[in-house]
Amino acid sequence: MLQKGELVAIPTETVYGLGANALDTKAILRVYEVKQRPHFDPLIIHVFEMNEALKYADLKDERLKKLAQKFWPGPLTLLLPKKNIVPDLVTSGLSQVAVRVPKHELTLQLLKQLNFPIAAPSANPFGYVSPTEPEHVNKQLGDKIDYILDGGKCTVGIESTIIGIEDGEVCVYRLGGLAIEDIEKEVGKVSLRINNSSDPKAPGQLKDHYAPNKPLYIGNLDELIAKHSTKKIAAICFGKTPSAKQNVTYFYLSEKENLKEAAINLFSFLRRTGEGDLDVIVAELLPEKGLGRAINDRLRRAETKTL
Ligand code: TXA
Ligand code: MG
Repeated sequence: MLQKGELVAIPTETVYGLGANALDTKAILRVYEVKQRPHFDPLIIHVFEMNEALKYADLKDERLKKLAQKFWPGPLTLLLPKKNIVPDLVTSGLSQVAVRVPKHELTLQLLKQLNFPIAAPSANPFGYVSPTEPEHVNKQLGDKIDYILDGGKCTVGIESTIIGIEDGEVCVYRLGGLAIEDIEKEVGKVSLRINNSSDPKAPGQLKDHYAPNKPLYIGNLDELIAKHSTKKIAAICFGKTPSAKQNVTYFYLSEKENLKEAAINLFSFLRRTGEGDLDVIVAELLPEKGLGRAINDRLRRAETKTL
C-alpha cells in the first residue's frame, strides 16, 4: 500500500503516526491534506536503524551519534542535515530533516521490508491531541486513510523528544518521551529551546496545540473545583485521592504517582474528558522532572487561554 502512495497509520511506542512513503511527494501532499496541516510544518521520517538513517541524513556530530546509539530505537528524534534524496516537502524547505527509529516491533518489521523511509506526523487532525490507540485514529481519520496497522496501545504515550544542534550546543526543541535527565547523562547539559509560538524552528509546537473540546484549566484542584461548583467537572489528577464530589469525575493519571504511567494515560484522558458529557476540565501540574516536564508541557498547551 505504502509503495502505491497510500496512507497507512502506523503504531509506534510514542503515538500513532500517519505514514506515507517519505520519498513520494504526492503521498506526502496527501498527508498534509488529510491532517489539514500547513505545509510549513515539517514531518519526521522513520527508519529501522541508524545505518538506514545515514542514507537520508548526515550524523557527524559525536554527541548526536552517541544519543542515537544509546536511545534508538526509542522516543528520540534527531534534527540532522538532510541529504538531497529527501524531498523538500518533507522538511518544509528546511536544510535539516527530523529522523527517528521507533521502538515498535510491527513498524520495525514493516520498515525493513520497504526500500524507503516512512514520513509520519502524529495521526490526528492538526492541532488536536495525538492518538495512542488505533481506535483514536479510526474515529478521526478512518474514512480518509487507506489502512490502520493495529499495534495495540502505545507504551510511551507522548511524542518523541526532539534534539538538534544550534550554536554548537545540544538543544531540545520538544519535550517528549525521553527525559532530559537521560539525555544529559550522555551528553552533558542541554539547552532548552521549546517554542511557545509559531516560530518556524519547530512549527508543530504551537502554543494552542492539543486543544480538547472542552475548556481546560490548570491549577490547584480544590480551588478550581470550588470555582466551577455549578458545573459538571472532569478532574485530571496525578496521585492523591481527593474527596469525592457529586459534580466531579476524577481521572487518575497514576495513582502510584508513576510518571511513565501518567504519560501513557494523558492523551486518552484528554480525549475522554473532551468527548464526555462534562462542562469543564480541570487539571493539576505534575512534578517538573523526568516525563513530568513533557506532560506539563502538553497540559499547558491544552489549557484554555483567556485574553
Ligand atoms: O513521537 C513522535 O515524534 C510521533 C511519532 C509518530 O513518531 N510523531 C510526531 O510527529 O509527533 P508530528 O509531526 O506530530 O510532530 C513533529 C514535530 C513538529 O513539531 C515539527 O514541527 C517538528 O517535529 N519537525 C519535524 N521536522 C522538523 C525539521 N526539519 N526541523 C524542525 N522541526 C521539525
Ligand atoms: Mg503532532
